[in-house]
Amino acid sequence: MIPQNNPLANYLNYKQEIDEAVQRVMASGSYILGEETSVLEQQFADYIGVKYAVGVGSGTEALHLALRAFGIGKEDEVITVSHTALATVAAIEMCGAIPVLVDIDPVSYTISPNEAENAISDRTKAIVPVHLYGQPADLQPLIDLTRRLNLYLIEDCAQSHGAMYRAEKVGAFGNAAIFSFYPTKNLGCLGDGGIVTTDSPDIHDRLISLRQYGWDSKRVSQMAGYNSRLDELQAAILRVKLKYLDADNKKRIIIAENYNTRLNSVPLHLPVKASSTSHVYHQYVIGCKSRSFRDGLMGYLSSKNIQSAIHYPVPVHLQPAYENRIVTGRRLLNTEKASDTILSLPMFPELTDKDINRVTDTIKEFFAGNRN
Ligand SMILES: Cc1ncc(COP(=O)(O)O)c(C=O)c1O
Repeated sequence: MIPQNNPLANYLNYKQEIDEAVQRVMASGSYILGEETSVLEQQFADYIGVKYAVGVGSGTEALHLALRAFGIGKEDEVITVSHTALATVAAIEMCGAIPVLVDIDPVSYTISPNEAENAISDRTKAIVPVHLYGQPADLQPLIDLTRRLNLYLIEDCAQSHGAMYRAEKVGAFGNAAIFSFYPTKNLGCLGDGGIVTTDSPDIHDRLISLRQYGWDSKRVSQMAGYNSRLDELQAAILRVKLKYLDADNKKRIIIAENYNTRLNSVPLHLPVKASSTSHVYHQYVIGCKSRSFRDGLMGYLSSKNIQSAIHYPVPVHLQPAYENRIVTGRRLLNTEKASDTILSLPMFPELTDKDINRVTDTIKEFFAGNRN
């Protein structure tokens, strides 16, 4: 079977170094918020090109705590997309704010800056663009908009570690940014983990406090906080993998280029990379002409032992738990069309050339109607 993603292969690739790092932590007697975490935080901040990074329990927690650090809470509105991992919206609700979900650009699948602007109200406090599938959102209009209206810009970089917008890495543009280290991410640990990046010393200090019960340096709670810490084992594993992130991203880019070449003549919408961005292909997402066609292709690939996935099958605003709770901008037509027609092909750095060929040959076979 060709899996859609493969965190085990990535572990096996760096097994010796990861195992050594794990042993080092086991023998150290320090398991929570020790040296591994603080070194990782500095290395990650340097990698992104910001002053600070604060490790927390997950990407969802990272967004929750970042919003809290900016004082966002009850009655406040936060604008983001419906075409994202549910986590983005869950984190907004965790701080008591109201998610306002707007439509995407149909080509990049990322937030439409015009739709974001149309959704602004007196209550809007922040915009959260999601750099989906590894491709940066159209940031400049959002930077201009949030500066003009005094709103916070908080980037959701959970799928875009190492991606560039113009000459800088995503995660360095907003007032803060969040990353997930879920095992399948471009930089993933072997459990849960997340991090917030920022240039603001005040936000950094608030995050340090919020992730641990709102404590000050004397362990007295100065604000209501949480328990959301990155543990030493995960930090040590991430320090190993961070060294190879650019090389792994490069492998993803080469795989995407191979897919592009081999699927060139097939009537599918292939990913389109904007000229101002790099794309780190957390996912390689193709667009089909209809839902039934997409479902047929997915079934055919599965019958040939090739796993594919839909990111995401039901937009957040149409999920039963959220239908009546969130506010939406105008009709989210591009979002609804995308979830009906997209398909994520196998994508991970260790995918072999032979496997890429098998995937693309099978897709061509489906198109040719040759299902035997
Ligand atoms: C776009 C996006 N935002 C946030 C998250 C949340 O990250 P985590 O799963 O680490 O909580 C994810 C990952 O699932 C994601 O893909």
